[in-house]
Amino acid sequence: MISMLSAADNALITQTDRDTPMGELFRRFWLPVLLPEEVPAPDSPPIRIKIMGEYLVAFRDSNGNVGIVEAFCPHRRAPLFYGRNEEAGLRCAYHGWKFDVNGSCVDLPSEPADSDFKSKVSLDAYPTREWGGVIWVYMGPPDERPPEPEWEFATVAPEQSYVSKRVQECNWLQAMEGGIDSSHVSFLHSGALNTDPLFKGSKGNQYNLGDKKPVFEVAESEGGLYIGARRNAEDGKYYWRITPWVMPCFTMVPPRGDHPMHGHFWVPMDDETCMAWSFDYHPVRALSELEREAMEAGKGIHVRVDKHFRPLQNKDNDYLMDRASQKSGRNFSGVEGIGMQDASLQESMGPIQDRTRENLVSTDNGIIMARHKLIKAAKELAAKGTLPPGRDVAHQKVRSVAVVLPSGTPFKEGAGEALKAREGVAQTSV
Ligand code: FES
Ligand SMILES: [Fe+2]
Repeated sequence: MISMLSAADNALITQTDRDTPMGELFRRFWLPVLLPEEVPAPDSPPIRIKIMGEYLVAFRDSNGNVGIVEAFCPHRRAPLFYGRNEEAGLRCAYHGWKFDVNGSCVDLPSEPADSDFKSKVSLDAYPTREWGGVIWVYMGPPDERPPEPEWEFATVAPEQSYVSKRVQECNWLQAMEGGIDSSHVSFLHSGALNTDPLFKGSKGNQYNLGDKKPVFEVAESEGGLYIGARRNAEDGKYYWRITPWVMPCFTMVPPRGDHPMHGHFWVPMDDETCMAWSFDYHPVRALSELEREAMEAGKGIHVRVDKHFRPLQNKDNDYLMDRASQKSGRNFSGVEGIGMQDASLQESMGPIQDRTRENLVSTDNGIIMARHKLIKAAKELAAKGTLPPGRDVAHQKVRSVAVVLPSGTPFKEGAGEALKAREGVAQTSV
């Protein structure tokens, strides 16, 4: 008998505002927050962001440093979004108080010149890092800051990777649970396997489409889990798709042929909205022009979005679902695009899915174990201050794998080194 989540655990695992157990857990990690082009140049316009329920403003100062600070001025709470980004700081448009990227007040022109009030006011500010085509933020206690992350997609040369983001209008967990649920691929994405330029043409697709009853096995990794989905291949062998999940919200899709590898971060914006980060990379070669064009056009796991990163297919237009295409079987759900096929269903579950009403089966084992690990880690952090796994760079050096193994070989053993990121070594893929 598989236990569903209690209402209390469902709340604990989905709520990420400051001072909640899961919110504190997330605040022990470096998280992706901005694409560099959102703050493109020194003194370019500040932008508004929301992450884990916190309203923030990001700006790139005159020296090129990126600041992420609280959104409202400490004087009388005017929004700093309307401020002037000039001479190495952000100046409030109301009475001219000015702050640097560290949140220090550097000018207070409305006060007498001999006032020392300037040293008494500051903005909350978070450290940032620009690296691998992403701006990262750390929002936790300074003395618990982990080393800077070393995910493989962000360590390869820029010509080998592509990163995009989109807003998803549901809680981060139900988005992430799609990322570790390999069994839906044979249904929801079945049409796209044969047509999407970033998916089609691999032998693995035939195994995916030929066996719709995968058997799941889950193995521990240092930073989370490897989730193995086994389907029948030829001669009594098994085709394994292995998805790594690293605490709290990093997942990778198992590869197909020589297509670039891909994966996601699912970062809470608030309890009812998350940012789905999607990355593609090839460990040993540059992305081709065709691949890059396809990614920019919203193929593969990427999605076409408006200037606020909201997908053009969204709940207001029923994701442009095409019933004729659904009926003919060309497209299982009738929604175009792999990313939107996922998002359309996950958003439409409601912003926070009621996990007390689920009926989980054995293909949900990865999800069950990931929830269990998250809840345990959040409770241990809250009760004892135990820092969660996944912060160590060694825990981040994982890869997804697609491989055919003899029956009887446990997947973690059979895949071996292929489950690790190895510089200059191609992915293991069928
Ligand atoms: S509210 Fe910002 S300077 Fe007065
Ligand atoms: Fe999916």
